[in-house]
Amino acid sequence: MSIDLAKKLAGYAAVDNHVVGPGMKIGIGSGSTIVYSIERLGEKLKNGEFRDIIAVCTSYQSLLLCRQHKIPVSTLDDPAIDGVLDIAIDGADEFDPKLNLIKGGGAAHTQEKIVDSAAKFFIVVVDEKKQSKKLGEKFSVPVEVIPAALNVVMKHLVALGARPELRMGGVQKMGPVITDNGNFIIDAKFGPIEDPGKLEKQINDITGVVENGLFTNMVSIIYMGKNDGSIEVFKRK
Ligand code: A5P
Repeated sequence: MSIDLAKKLAGYAAVDNHVVGPGMKIGIGSGSTIVYSIERLGEKLKNGEFRDIIAVCTSYQSLLLCRQHKIPVSTLDDPAIDGVLDIAIDGADEFDPKLNLIKGGGAAHTQEKIVDSAAKFFIVVVDEKKQSKKLGEKFSVPVEVIPAALNVVMKHLVALGARPELRMGGVQKMGPVITDNGNFIIDAKFGPIEDPGKLEKQINDITGVVENGLFTNMVSIIYMGKNDGSIEVFKRK
């Protein structure tokens, strides 16, 4: 089974198991796995199984996809939403046994953290490559920074024990990656992280940091699609 099918299993499971009634307000993450949750939501709206749901998106990527699938979208400051979502569905780059996450591989973690933390129930959809014993084993911690603060923040991240690198674009975007909020991303390589909750706060304490990609104590449930075609479910204890 391909990794894409594993992502699809997880992406569909989140919608099939959690989106229930009309009027539901749903946070929609970013990345390649959430594409399948958006596809499933669109399909169920089209066939009449769901109605009157509202999505709040975390990036231009998910906004455009929701529009393409005719899913009504709004924002957290819409009076009908008033800053509270029933559920949020999002991907992750790495997760640990306590269901803490690293996110931001797609440079969308700031809006993702805003939307995901506004949800009463936060659902994560991943493939099995994302599972880790300790966060940081596989992935660097993405840190969104105000461009003018780049060098200052880099120095502070080194002092916290990281090897920081400014994330660069490729042939289709020369120079640094610019987030949907107009900022830079630093990928801070820490290696295995002993206390992700403490590090999350320490990074956010640096002036010039907008938000970092450590998501601790937020997740309600994780659906992990596996290469053998099964799904493993991890619930917050
Ligand atoms: C976006 O910035 C990220 O946080 C994504 O949600 C995360 O990288 C998961 O993406 P995939 O589903 O593509 O692995």
